[in-house]
Amino acid sequence: MFKILAKEVLSDCVYKMVIDAPRIARARKAGQFVVLRIDENGERVPLTICDADAVAGSLTIVFQAVGKSTMQLGQMEPGQSIHDLVGPLGKATHIEKYGTVVCVGGGIGIAPVYPIAQAMRLAGNKVISLIGARTKNLLILEKEMAKVSDELLVATDDGSYSIKGFTSDLLKQVMARGIKVDLAVAIGPVPMMKAMANLTKTYNLKTMVSLNPIMLDATGMCGVCRVTVGGKTQFACVDGPEFDGHLVDFDELQKRLRTYNVQEKTAVEKFQHSPSCIDLAMAAQKQVK
Ligand SMILES: Cc1cc2nc3c(=O)[nH]c(=O)nc-3n(C[C@H](O)[C@H](O)[C@H](O)COP(=O)(O)OP(=O)(O)OC[C@H]3O[C@@H](n4cnc5c(N)ncnc54)[C@H](O)[C@@H]3O)c2cc1C
Ligand code: FES
Repeated sequence: MFKILAKEVLSDCVYKMVIDAPRIARARKAGQFVVLRIDENGERVPLTICDADAVAGSLTIVFQAVGKSTMQLGQMEPGQSIHDLVGPLGKATHIEKYGTVVCVGGGIGIAPVYPIAQAMRLAGNKVISLIGARTKNLLILEKEMAKVSDELLVATDDGSYSIKGFTSDLLKQVMARGIKVDLAVAIGPVPMMKAMANLTKTYNLKTMVSLNPIMLDATGMCGVCRVTVGGKTQFACVDGPEFDGHLVDFDELQKRLRTYNVQEKTAVEKFQHSPSCIDLAMAAQKQVK
Protein backbone atom coordinates (compact mmCIF):
# COMPACT_ATOMS: atom_id res chain seq x y z
CA MET A 1 0.00 0.00 0.00
CA PHE A 2 1.25 3.50 -0.88
CA LYS A 3 -0.10 6.28 1.30
CA ILE A 4 -1.22 9.59 -0.21
CA LEU A 5 0.57 12.29 1.81
CA ALA A 6 -0.80 15.41 0.16
CA LYS A 7 -3.21 16.43 -2.57
CA GLU A 8 -3.74 19.68 -4.42
CA VAL A 9 -6.35 20.48 -7.05
CA LEU A 10 -4.46 22.36 -9.80
CA SER A 11 -7.48 22.95 -12.04
CA ASP A 12 -10.99 21.58 -12.56
CA CYS A 13 -9.74 18.15 -13.55
CA VAL A 14 -6.01 18.19 -12.77
CA TYR A 15 -4.62 16.92 -9.46
CA LYS A 16 -1.21 16.87 -7.83
CA MET A 17 -0.53 14.10 -5.31
CA VAL A 18 2.45 13.38 -3.10
CA ILE A 19 2.77 9.67 -2.36
CA ASP A 20 4.91 7.81 0.14
CA ALA A 21 7.16 5.54 -1.96
CA PRO A 22 10.76 5.73 -0.62
CA ARG A 23 12.42 3.15 -2.87
CA ILE A 24 10.97 4.60 -6.08
CA ALA A 25 11.71 8.15 -4.91
CA ARG A 26 15.38 7.27 -4.41
CA ALA A 27 15.77 5.43 -7.72
CA ARG A 28 13.79 7.55 -10.19
CA LYS A 29 15.35 9.67 -12.92
CA ALA A 30 13.83 12.33 -15.17
CA GLY A 31 11.59 10.86 -17.87
CA GLN A 32 10.52 7.79 -15.89
CA PHE A 33 7.03 6.78 -14.84
CA VAL A 34 5.10 4.56 -12.44
CA VAL A 35 2.14 2.26 -13.04
CA LEU A 36 -0.43 2.29 -10.26
CA ARG A 37 -3.58 0.39 -9.38
CA ILE A 38 -6.03 2.05 -7.04
CA ASP A 39 -7.39 -1.25 -5.73
CA GLU A 40 -6.80 -4.91 -6.46
CA ASN A 41 -9.30 -4.93 -9.34
CA GLY A 42 -8.08 -1.62 -10.68
CA GLU A 43 -6.82 -0.75 -14.15
CA ARG A 44 -3.11 -0.20 -14.47
CA VAL A 45 -2.53 3.55 -14.93
CA PRO A 46 0.86 4.84 -16.13
CA LEU A 47 1.77 8.28 -14.77
CA THR A 48 5.02 10.23 -15.05
CA ILE A 49 7.01 10.83 -11.87
CA CYS A 50 6.78 14.60 -11.89
CA ASP A 51 9.05 15.12 -8.91
CA ALA A 52 10.55 13.17 -6.01
CA ASP A 53 12.07 13.85 -2.63
CA ALA A 54 14.66 11.15 -1.94
CA VAL A 55 15.11 12.27 1.68
CA ALA A 56 11.42 12.35 2.56
CA GLY A 57 10.86 9.23 0.44
CA SER A 58 7.98 10.68 -1.53
CA LEU A 59 7.13 11.17 -5.17
CA THR A 60 4.79 13.58 -6.89
CA ILE A 61 2.36 12.78 -9.68
CA VAL A 62 0.25 15.27 -11.61
CA PHE A 63 -2.66 13.80 -13.51
CA GLN A 64 -5.71 14.79 -15.48
CA ALA A 65 -8.99 13.02 -14.74
CA VAL A 66 -9.86 11.86 -18.26
CA GLY A 67 -11.55 8.52 -17.60
CA LYS A 68 -12.77 6.15 -14.91
CA SER A 69 -9.49 5.36 -13.16
CA THR A 70 -8.06 8.89 -13.10
CA MET A 71 -11.46 10.23 -11.94
CA GLN A 72 -11.44 7.65 -9.14
CA LEU A 73 -7.86 8.58 -8.22
CA GLY A 74 -8.82 12.26 -8.14
CA GLN A 75 -11.45 11.46 -5.51
CA MET A 76 -8.90 9.95 -3.13
CA GLU A 77 -7.68 12.01 -0.20
CA PRO A 78 -4.52 12.23 1.93
CA GLY A 79 -4.40 9.38 4.42
CA GLN A 80 -5.89 6.89 1.94
CA SER A 81 -3.64 4.43 0.13
CA ILE A 82 -3.07 3.29 -3.45
CA HIS A 83 -3.04 -0.50 -3.69
CA ASP A 84 0.12 -0.84 -5.77
CA LEU A 85 2.65 1.37 -7.46
CA VAL A 86 5.38 -0.06 -9.69
CA GLY A 87 8.41 1.89 -10.81
CA PRO A 88 10.50 3.62 -11.81
CA LEU A 89 9.67 2.38 -15.32
CA GLY A 90 10.84 3.40 -18.78
CA LYS A 91 14.18 4.69 -19.97
CA ALA A 92 15.37 7.82 -18.23
CA THR A 93 15.86 10.92 -20.35
CA HIS A 94 19.39 11.20 -21.74
CA ILE A 95 20.72 14.21 -19.85
CA GLU A 96 23.95 15.95 -20.83
CA LYS A 97 25.23 19.45 -21.38
CA TYR A 98 23.86 20.24 -24.86
CA GLY A 99 24.00 24.05 -24.57
CA THR A 100 20.55 25.54 -25.01
CA VAL A 101 17.55 23.26 -24.53
CA VAL A 102 13.99 24.30 -25.29
CA CYS A 103 11.43 22.44 -23.12
CA VAL A 104 7.89 22.58 -24.47
CA GLY A 105 4.86 21.45 -22.45
CA GLY A 106 1.27 21.52 -23.65
CA GLY A 107 -1.65 21.04 -21.22
CA ILE A 108 -1.03 18.08 -18.91
CA GLY A 109 2.26 17.59 -20.84
CA ILE A 110 3.75 20.31 -18.61
CA ALA A 111 3.86 17.69 -15.81
CA PRO A 112 6.21 15.27 -17.63
CA VAL A 113 8.33 18.10 -19.11
CA TYR A 114 8.98 19.60 -15.65
CA PRO A 115 11.45 16.93 -14.34
CA ILE A 116 13.29 17.01 -17.69
CA ALA A 117 13.68 20.82 -17.59
CA GLN A 118 14.87 20.48 -13.97
CA ALA A 119 17.49 17.82 -14.88
CA MET A 120 18.65 19.68 -18.02
CA ARG A 121 19.22 22.84 -15.95
CA LEU A 122 21.12 20.90 -13.27
CA ALA A 123 23.38 19.54 -16.03
CA GLY A 124 24.35 23.12 -16.90
CA ASN A 125 22.10 23.74 -19.91
CA LYS A 126 20.39 27.03 -20.62
CA VAL A 127 16.72 26.05 -20.41
CA ILE A 128 14.07 28.01 -22.30
CA SER A 129 10.64 26.67 -21.41
CA LEU A 130 7.53 27.20 -23.49
CA ILE A 131 4.27 26.13 -21.87
CA GLY A 132 0.71 26.45 -23.04
CA ALA A 133 -2.87 25.55 -22.25
CA ARG A 134 -6.25 25.96 -23.91
CA THR A 135 -7.24 28.61 -21.38
CA LYS A 136 -5.85 30.30 -18.23
CA ASN A 137 -7.65 27.99 -15.76
CA LEU A 138 -6.02 24.93 -17.31
CA LEU A 139 -2.46 26.20 -17.07
CA ILE A 140 -0.49 24.22 -14.49
CA LEU A 141 2.94 24.34 -12.80
CA GLU A 142 3.83 27.83 -14.08
CA LYS A 143 5.77 28.78 -10.91
CA GLU A 144 7.56 25.41 -10.82
CA MET A 145 8.57 25.72 -14.49
CA ALA A 146 9.81 29.29 -13.92
CA LYS A 147 12.10 28.03 -11.14
CA VAL A 148 13.84 25.46 -13.35
CA SER A 149 14.08 27.65 -16.47
CA ASP A 150 16.34 30.51 -17.53
CA GLU A 151 13.39 31.88 -19.48
CA LEU A 152 9.71 30.94 -19.49
CA LEU A 153 7.17 31.90 -22.13
CA VAL A 154 3.48 31.11 -21.70
CA ALA A 155 0.71 30.91 -24.29
CA THR A 156 -3.02 30.27 -24.08
CA ASP A 157 -5.06 29.24 -27.12
CA ASP A 158 -7.80 31.77 -26.30
CA GLY A 159 -5.51 34.61 -25.15
CA SER A 160 -7.02 34.56 -21.62
CA TYR A 161 -3.49 34.74 -20.17
CA SER A 162 -0.10 35.83 -21.48
CA ILE A 163 0.51 35.38 -25.23
CA LYS A 164 -2.43 34.30 -27.44
CA GLY A 165 -1.49 31.28 -29.51
CA PHE A 166 0.08 27.85 -29.37
CA THR A 167 3.41 26.64 -28.00
CA SER A 168 4.54 26.34 -31.63
CA ASP A 169 4.05 30.14 -31.96
CA LEU A 170 6.31 30.60 -28.91
CA LEU A 171 8.96 28.41 -30.50
CA LYS A 172 8.79 30.48 -33.71
CA GLN A 173 9.38 33.63 -31.57
CA VAL A 174 12.41 32.07 -29.89
CA MET A 175 13.90 30.84 -33.19
CA ALA A 176 13.30 34.26 -34.77
CA ARG A 177 15.81 35.71 -32.28
CA GLY A 178 18.50 33.74 -34.09
CA ILE A 179 19.78 31.97 -30.98
CA LYS A 180 21.37 28.56 -31.40
CA VAL A 181 19.09 25.93 -29.89
CA ASP A 182 20.73 22.52 -29.45
CA LEU A 183 17.78 20.33 -28.45
CA ALA A 184 14.01 20.55 -28.08
CA VAL A 185 11.89 18.38 -25.80
CA ALA A 186 8.16 18.55 -26.54
CA ILE A 187 5.45 16.81 -24.52
CA GLY A 188 1.70 17.22 -24.78
CA PRO A 189 -1.31 15.97 -26.72
CA VAL A 190 -0.41 13.93 -29.82
CA PRO A 191 -1.51 16.66 -32.32
CA MET A 192 0.68 19.18 -30.44
CA MET A 193 3.74 16.92 -30.51
CA LYS A 194 3.15 16.23 -34.21
CA ALA A 195 2.88 19.96 -35.01
CA MET A 196 5.97 20.71 -32.96
CA ALA A 197 7.99 17.95 -34.66
CA ASN A 198 6.93 19.20 -38.10
CA LEU A 199 8.01 22.73 -37.15
CA THR A 200 11.37 21.76 -35.65
CA LYS A 201 12.14 19.73 -38.79
CA THR A 202 12.14 23.01 -40.70
CA TYR A 203 14.82 24.32 -38.30
CA ASN A 204 16.71 21.01 -38.39
CA LEU A 205 16.38 20.98 -34.58
CA LYS A 206 16.63 17.56 -32.89
CA THR A 207 13.41 17.00 -30.95
CA MET A 208 12.53 14.46 -28.29
CA VAL A 209 8.88 13.66 -27.58
CA SER A 210 7.37 11.48 -24.83
CA LEU A 211 4.67 9.12 -26.07
CA ASN A 212 1.57 8.06 -24.15
CA PRO A 213 0.17 4.99 -25.93
CA ILE A 214 -2.17 2.75 -23.96
CA MET A 215 -0.05 0.52 -21.72
CA LEU A 216 -0.90 -2.72 -20.04
CA ASP A 217 1.93 -4.71 -18.48
CA ALA A 218 4.60 -1.98 -18.95
CA THR A 219 7.28 -4.69 -19.16
CA GLY A 220 7.60 -5.03 -22.93
CA MET A 221 5.72 -8.36 -23.00
CA CYS A 222 2.14 -7.58 -24.08
CA GLY A 223 2.79 -5.36 -27.09
CA VAL A 224 -0.10 -3.00 -26.33
CA CYS A 225 2.08 0.12 -26.26
CA ARG A 226 3.69 -0.49 -29.65
CA VAL A 227 4.53 2.58 -31.69
CA THR A 228 6.26 2.98 -35.02
CA VAL A 229 9.45 5.03 -34.92
CA GLY A 230 11.59 5.35 -38.05
CA GLY A 231 9.59 2.51 -39.63
CA LYS A 232 10.43 0.12 -36.77
CA THR A 233 8.14 -1.22 -34.06
CA GLN A 234 9.10 -0.01 -30.60
CA PHE A 235 7.49 -0.56 -27.21
CA ALA A 236 7.03 2.75 -25.45
CA CYS A 237 7.17 1.17 -21.97
CA VAL A 238 10.68 -0.26 -22.33
CA ASP A 239 12.18 1.43 -25.42
CA GLY A 240 10.71 4.82 -24.46
CA PRO A 241 8.62 6.67 -23.53
CA GLU A 242 10.92 9.21 -25.25
CA PHE A 243 11.67 9.00 -28.96
CA ASP A 244 13.01 11.14 -31.76
CA GLY A 245 9.97 13.23 -32.70
CA HIS A 246 11.04 13.45 -36.35
CA LEU A 247 10.71 9.66 -36.71
CA VAL A 248 7.44 8.95 -34.84
CA ASP A 249 4.29 7.86 -36.72
CA PHE A 250 1.92 10.18 -34.81
CA ASP A 251 -1.13 9.32 -36.96
CA GLU A 252 -0.85 5.64 -36.03
CA LEU A 253 -0.44 6.55 -32.34
CA GLN A 254 -3.55 8.75 -32.43
CA LYS A 255 -5.53 5.97 -34.10
CA ARG A 256 -4.41 3.36 -31.56
CA LEU A 257 -5.32 5.68 -28.65
CA ARG A 258 -8.92 5.62 -29.91
CA THR A 259 -9.15 1.80 -29.86
CA TYR A 260 -11.15 1.54 -26.63
CA ASN A 261 -13.19 4.76 -26.88
CA VAL A 262 -16.53 2.93 -26.55
CA GLN A 263 -15.41 0.85 -23.55
CA GLU A 264 -13.81 3.91 -21.90
CA LYS A 265 -17.07 5.89 -22.30
CA THR A 266 -19.09 3.03 -20.80
CA ALA A 267 -16.67 2.74 -17.85
CA VAL A 268 -17.03 6.47 -17.09
CA GLU A 269 -20.84 6.29 -17.29
CA LYS A 270 -20.93 3.29 -14.94
CA PHE A 271 -18.52 4.99 -12.53
CA GLN A 272 -20.51 8.20 -12.44
CA HIS A 273 -23.73 6.32 -11.76
CA SER A 274 -22.27 4.07 -9.09
CA PRO A 275 -19.97 6.11 -6.88
CA SER A 276 -20.08 3.11 -4.55
CA CYS A 277 -17.03 1.56 -6.26
CA ILE A 278 -14.68 4.06 -4.59
CA ASP A 279 -16.57 3.58 -1.30
CA LEU A 280 -16.12 -0.18 -1.61
CA ALA A 281 -12.39 0.21 -2.23
CA MET A 282 -12.06 2.52 0.75
CA ALA A 283 -14.09 0.18 2.97
CA ALA A 284 -11.78 -2.67 1.95
CA GLN A 285 -8.75 -0.56 2.91
CA LYS A 286 -10.26 0.17 6.34
CA GLN A 287 -10.80 -3.55 6.91
CA VAL A 288 -7.14 -4.24 6.14
CA LYS A 289 -6.08 -1.60 8.70
C1 LIG B 1 4.36 6.76 -19.97
C2 LIG B 1 3.08 7.50 -19.70
C3 LIG B 1 3.08 8.56 -18.83
C4 LIG B 1 1.90 9.25 -18.57
N1 LIG B 1 1.96 10.30 -17.71
C5 LIG B 1 0.85 10.97 -17.43
C6 LIG B 1 0.88 12.07 -16.49
O1 LIG B 1 1.91 12.41 -15.91
N2 LIG B 1 -0.30 12.71 -16.25
C7 LIG B 1 -1.46 12.35 -16.87
O2 LIG B 1 -2.49 12.99 -16.62
N3 LIG B 1 -1.52 11.33 -17.75
C8 LIG B 1 -0.41 10.63 -18.04
N4 LIG B 1 -0.48 9.57 -18.91
C9 LIG B 1 -1.79 9.19 -19.48
C10 LIG B 1 -2.59 8.37 -18.46
O3 LIG B 1 -1.96 7.12 -18.27
C11 LIG B 1 -4.04 8.13 -18.96
O4 LIG B 1 -4.70 9.36 -19.00
C12 LIG B 1 -4.82 7.19 -18.03
O5 LIG B 1 -4.32 5.88 -18.12
C13 LIG B 1 -6.27 7.19 -18.43
O6 LIG B 1 -6.95 6.22 -17.66
P1 LIG B 1 -8.50 6.38 -17.33
O7 LIG B 1 -9.04 5.07 -16.91
O8 LIG B 1 -8.74 7.51 -16.39
O9 LIG B 1 -9.13 6.81 -18.69
P2 LIG B 1 -9.64 5.90 -19.91
O10 LIG B 1 -11.13 6.02 -19.95
O11 LIG B 1 -9.09 4.53 -19.82
O12 LIG B 1 -9.01 6.63 -21.10
C14 LIG B 1 -9.16 7.99 -21.36
C15 LIG B 1 -8.05 8.41 -22.32
O13 LIG B 1 -6.76 7.99 -21.85
C16 LIG B 1 -6.12 7.11 -22.79
N5 LIG B 1 -5.60 5.95 -22.03
C17 LIG B 1 -6.30 4.97 -21.44
N6 LIG B 1 -5.54 4.08 -20.81
C18 LIG B 1 -4.28 4.47 -21.01
C19 LIG B 1 -3.04 3.95 -20.62
N7 LIG B 1 -2.93 2.83 -19.90
N8 LIG B 1 -1.94 4.62 -21.00
C20 LIG B 1 -2.05 5.75 -21.71
N9 LIG B 1 -3.19 6.31 -22.11
C21 LIG B 1 -4.30 5.68 -21.78
C22 LIG B 1 -7.23 6.66 -23.70
O14 LIG B 1 -6.79 6.41 -25.00
C23 LIG B 1 -8.18 7.82 -23.69
O15 LIG B 1 -7.79 8.81 -24.61
C24 LIG B 1 0.68 8.86 -19.20
C25 LIG B 1 0.67 7.79 -20.09
C26 LIG B 1 1.86 7.11 -20.35
C27 LIG B 1 1.84 5.96 -21.28
S1 FES C 1 2.72 -2.04 -22.15
FE1 FES C 1 2.95 -4.09 -22.72
S2 FES C 1 4.64 -4.02 -24.07
FE2 FES C 1 4.50 -2.02 -23.30
